[in-house]
This record gives sequence, C-alpha cells and structure tokens, in this order.
Amino acid sequence: METKANTILENRPELEKRVGEAAEVAGYLWQKGWAERNGGNITLNITDLVDAEIRAKPAISAPVPIGRVLPHLKGGYFFCKGTNLRMRDLARYPMENGSVIRVLDDCASYVIIADKPVRPTSEIASHLSIHNYLIGKGSNYKAVLHTHPTDLVAMTHNPAFLKKDVLSYLLWSMIPETRAFCPRGLGIVPYALPGSFELADATIEELAEYDVVMWEKHGVTSVSENIMEAFDMVDTLSKSAQIYLTAKSMGFEPQGMTVEQMDEMKIAFNLPK
Ligand code: 13P
Ligand code: ZN
Repeated sequence: METKANTILENRPELEKRVGEAAEVAGYLWQKGWAERNGGNITLNITDLVDAEIRAKPAISAPVPIGRVLPHLKGGYFFCKGTNLRMRDLARYPMENGSVIRVLDDCASYVIIADKPVRPTSEIASHLSIHNYLIGKGSNYKAVLHTHPTDLVAMTHNPAFLKKDVLSYLLWSMIPETRAFCPRGLGIVPYALPGSFELADATIEELAEYDVVMWEKHGVTSVSENIMEAFDMVDTLSKSAQIYLTAKSMGFEPQGMTVEQMDEMKIAFNLPK
C-alpha cells in the first residue's frame, strides 16, 4: 500500500474512507473483467468533506478548460480516476492513479490540487456534466461510475434491445433481485463519441428517468449516493444478463418472470416504477 504521509487523505478518515471505497470498487471492476487496460472511470463529489486547509491548497496544475459552463460546480471538489490509467492500479494506489480537482469560480475550468498532477479521465465532460445536473436538482448522489461489462455491452449490439425499456423488462424478468435493486431500469444512449458533450447530454437526458444508462456499443454509466451502490446496480443487471445468456447457450429462450409477478414486486416493495 502507498504510505498515507503527504497525501490529502492523511488525518481525514472520512475522505480516506470515501476514496477507499472507490479503490475497492476499482478492484471489483478489474476482477469482473469489465476494466480492460484503462477501461472505465469513477468520479466522486467530495465537496462535503473538504475543510479550510484543502480549500487553501495551491493548484498543482494550470487551469484546464472544461469546455462548457457548469454553474452548480462552483468551488466543488471531485476525486477523479486519471485518464489512461488502470482500475487495477487505482485499486491499490488510488492517489497515484486518480487526483482531486477543484472547479474554479468561472465554473468552466478546474485545477488539480492533490496528490499528484494526474490528468482526470477523458470522460470528464460526462462526469462533470452529470455532477452538475445532480447538484442542480438537489440530489444527494455523489458517485458516477462508468465501466465496460461484457454481457451488457454485447446486448447493445442487438438493435431490438435498444428500444425503450426492452432491456429493462428483459433483465428485470430474469431474477427478482434486479427488479428490486435496479428499480428504475436501464436507459439507453445511442452511440456517441467517447468523451464528447453529445454523449454527456444524451446521458443526462436519460438520468431524468434512470439511475443506470447503457452507452451503445461502449459501456454503462450509473449514478448513486455512493460508489458501492452505483456498482451494485450494474452488478445486478450483469447477473441478469448472465442468466439470460446462460439459458440461451443451453439452447432455449428463458421464460422470464411474468409481468404480473414483476408488478406484484412493485407493490410489495413500493418500487418507484
Ligand atoms: P479514461 O482512461 O480516460 O478514463 O478512459 C476510459 C474509458 O472507459 C473511456 O470511455
Ligand atoms: Zn468507456
């Protein structure tokens, strides 16, 4: 393990815990086979854990333009996975494979403040636009996860699965747990260039209705209060995808729970959709 001396995490147990959760999830992503090379990214809104000493920390990078104005991010602080860096490395050394940024008062640029000048993920347009959207609507969600689950991404190569809520119902119907723990279902964003604002905006549109969104032929993005919950929703959906694929590979179409059985769960567990 890296030593805690000279890191922003030193003597800040809450911050250490939150970044530690991101590192734990990064390890799961690698173990799951969802994080080839530098695949995937994590950002955490840590503004609530920032003290005066952190606020006074000098920048260790020049200001970097975000490319748009994000008014709700003024003075916000985010832990971000570094671009081109590996989840399996972030799992062990989070502050060498990720960094903390401060959004400047122009709401259109950021500086890196700790620990090292690690450039944030190439999907920063989506991540920061999503955080801006979440703060703007008064959400308590602080974690954004993007990852590349093989089974779910494979499903987006079938145009029939890209129609609204086809995948939500199919995956819900594989196992009651998915209906319960991913109760809003799965939104779909048509293919767009990785790292683009087009991808960011299409994702935000879907987040009005869903907490988990598929990026066609690329990956999945989820939002939640914390990174564990964001991971668990994707993990549950992937479990359903595995059951579907296993049944298909045994040579039959899985029957799935009936609409009545799923509606019964909606009532019994007071699910939102
Ligand atoms: P980064 O290494 O820049 O985070 O990119 C990984 C990725 O998944 C892009 O979509
Ligand atoms: Zn990706």
